[in-house]
Amino acid sequence: MPTVSVAGKTIEVTEDTRLVLAIEAAGIAIGHRCGGHAKCTTCRVVFAEGEPQTMTKAEHEKLSERDLLGSARLSCQILCTHDMAIAEVPMTLESQNWTDTGPAPEPIVTPEATWYPSADF
Ligand code: FES
Repeated sequence: MPTVSVAGKTIEVTEDTRLVLAIEAAGIAIGHRCGGHAKCTTCRVVFAEGEPQTMTKAEHEKLSERDLLGSARLSCQILCTHDMAIAEVPMTLESQNWTDTGPAPEPIVTPEATWYPSADF
């Protein structure tokens, strides 16, 4: 099974696990204020290793709109298909002083994913 490493912790996940949910399972109160629909960017992460070579259309559009393309990824739009290490989770319950992290993301990628290879980013 693939592993996800974040904040000094490594957990095993299934390949169809959304990264935002894996990070949460590792004990990090990551933001997902839009419920995992690629609308808010609070689930953004910075990769140390294993950044996926594909991106959903919804992620590409949102990162472009917020000028984050190339500097962050949206963990709600990523499946844990291989080992990944996360360097930074910028927006958490603690760092943003929220009262909650947002509605629970569904187990599948939403909106329905259209995947692009990185050459198309
Ligand atoms: S963009 Fe809102 S949770 Fe991912």
